Formats: sequence, C-alpha cells, structure tokens
Amino acid sequence: MNTFKALKLMADPLQGFAIWLKEAEAAGIEQSEAASLATVNNRGAPSMRTVLYKGMSKGGFCFYTNYNSPKSRDIEQNSSVALLFFWQVQARQIRITGTVEKLSESESQAYFLTRDRGSQIGAWASEQSEELESRDALMQRVAELTEMHAGKEVPCPPHWGGFRVLPSVMEFWQGRDDRLHDRFQFSLDDAKGKGTADAKTWRHKRLAP
Ligand SMILES: Cc1cc2nc3c(=O)[nH]c(=O)nc-3n(C[C@H](O)[C@H](O)[C@H](O)COP(=O)(O)O)c2cc1C
Repeated sequence: MNTFKALKLMADPLQGFAIWLKEAEAAGIEQSEAASLATVNNRGAPSMRTVLYKGMSKGGFCFYTNYNSPKSRDIEQNSSVALLFFWQVQARQIRITGTVEKLSESESQAYFLTRDRGSQIGAWASEQSEELESRDALMQRVAELTEMHAGKEVPCPPHWGGFRVLPSVMEFWQGRDDRLHDRFQFSLDDAKGKGTADAKTWRHKRLAP
C-alpha cells in the first residue's frame, strides 16, 4: 500500500497533484487525466460530468469544452465548481473545490491548434448537449464542414474554449488497510486571499477517514 510520506512534506498541493498524476500515468492508468466536474446552477441544481484535465494555467486546472453547453451555462451563473480525480489502482482520490474562469482566447486557440483535425471539425459540428435529430444529421454536418475547411487550417470556434479551475481547497485521499485511510486537506489561507491564483500560502491538516 502506498504511503503518504511525500505529501506530509509538501507545502504546495499543486505539486502534490502533479506528482500523483505522474504516478498514475506511470502506473499505466488509462485516461488518468479524466476528472469529474461538478457545477451548480443559479437554482441550486447540481450537475456532474467527466472532463479531461489539460494542464495548469495561472495556478488553475484547465479543461476545454463548448461555451454554449449546459456546464458552461452553469458556470456563467455560478463560478463555484468542484473537480474530482480518482485513480482506482492506487486507491487515490483528489478533491478540488474552487472557482472557475475562462481562459483567454489566445490560450484556447493555442490548444485548439494542437487537436487532431477530426476533433477540430467536431468542435464546429456539435452543438453540445442539444437534441440531435439523428446520427446521420451529425455526420452530414461533419461532411459539410470538412469540405468547407478542405486544405485550410480549421479556426477555433468562438463557442469553444477552455476554463481554469482555481482551487481554494484540495484534499488528498490515500486508501490504507482497515479503512484507516490517509486524508490531507489543503486550504488557501484566508488572510492571503482565498481563491486567488496568486495566493500560494496553503495550510494543511489531516482529516479522519
Ligand atoms: C472520459 C471522458 C472525457 C470527457 N472529456 C470531456 C472534455 O474534456 N470536455 C467536454 O466538454 N466534454 C467531455 N466529456 C463529455 C462530458 O462528460 C459531457 O458529456 C459533455 O461535456 C456535456 O456536458 P454538459 O451537458 O454538462 O455540458 C468527456 C466524457 C468522458 C466520458
């Protein structure tokens, strides 16, 4: 069973996240960058879905999506979100709560250009989470857009881009024998400006399993 030695010594949970993600990748866990994203709309209704973590930006966890999707509408109404990573093989979980903000257009465009062409066309073709008449209708739209962009670079759609989740609380959970798991919670020091990407002062405490 893994020990918690490394985290005990760590002052920065973002570093802890980077280490655990790397270890999950090294252990061969597929889609180790997949995370559950929880949003809550302005009526207090929660919603969750999986997104892929695509790196850090200004101290925040980035993911990319359709800005007209239900998750983006929730975020517009309420910027408080939660992210959850779970790596079963290593009996590890990281819970993150914080606020979310849009990446700049240039950041989103830069990432969009790294995507394969099929995904770029897909971002134009799919009105994410809207009702589709049929699969054929979607494929027809893909064919039209593929033709429209033939021989040209596919630009980043205005309705597509990234968000960064700026953490204010992060909890590391390491499964141990007899359900006596290790849990460490890191919170940004209030006095240092909770929830801001610049605040680097984290306090941590051990929580009961
Ligand atoms: C493994 C996995 C990874 C996913 N990654 C993303 C992603 O990075 N961005 C995204 O918009 N949707 C992603 N999805 C789809 C979402 O879970 C969800 O179905 C979609 O974004 C619509 O969510 P919404 O209606 O709440 O906006 C992923 C799904 C799975 C299962």
